Amino acid sequence: MQKLEPDQAFWLTAPHIYTLVTSLDVHGKPNVMGVSWVTRTPFSPPLMLVSIGHTRYSHTGIAEHQEFVIHYPSREQAQAAWLCGTLSGRDGNKIEKVGLELIDSQVVKVPTIKHVTVAFECKLISQLETGDHTVFVGEVVATSGNPNKAEHLYDTADKGLFALDQNGKAKFCD
Ligand SMILES: Cc1cc2nc3c(=O)[nH]c(=O)nc-3n(C[C@H](O)[C@H](O)[C@H](O)COP(=O)(O)O)c2cc1C
Repeated sequence: MQKLEPDQAFWLTAPHIYTLVTSLDVHGKPNVMGVSWVTRTPFSPPLMLVSIGHTRYSHTGIAEHQEFVIHYPSREQAQAAWLCGTLSGRDGNKIEKVGLELIDSQVVKVPTIKHVTVAFECKLISQLETGDHTVFVGEVVATSGNPNKAEHLYDTADKGLFALDQNGKAKFCD
């Protein structure tokens, strides 16, 4: 073991699960961003949290509309998913640009991304300011997914994404 700077220590925690979060912007238009700071909390009631930077275009939309959908994208969506974490919806319609398909959600107004492994529709119930990010806590009000496609994307310390299935089989994505 050696003494590490916090940034180096955080870098060592990669890979992280990589999700896509949809929201509505201030004009009511759908947007999507890549989020790896995400987790379920607690067992009951079903709640999930995401940590969103203050500078993200999605931040304003989530705070305004109080709804978001968390998606675990599939391997075929890796390229589009990566772009969602590098482009901003502030500069145009990101969803159209990256070629993701949207469908109506079951409960919330924010749309769900089609063909993902699993999607959690959330209503904002609480938020916590943590430095330059806000932790948004959502109650899961509806879920959908593809049980035959349990494959998730992980980020490799900023070098890209790889997919991992539930048997631990990894596949790198171009
Ligand atoms: C691998 C990866 C993980 C990311 N995780 C987060 C995150 O947890 N929270 C966050 O605020 N931004 C995260 N981002 C950055 C946003 O996805 C990125 O700034 C995006 O352009 C924001 O889009 P928006 O401006 O349309 O909201 C991540 C990006 C990548 C590539």
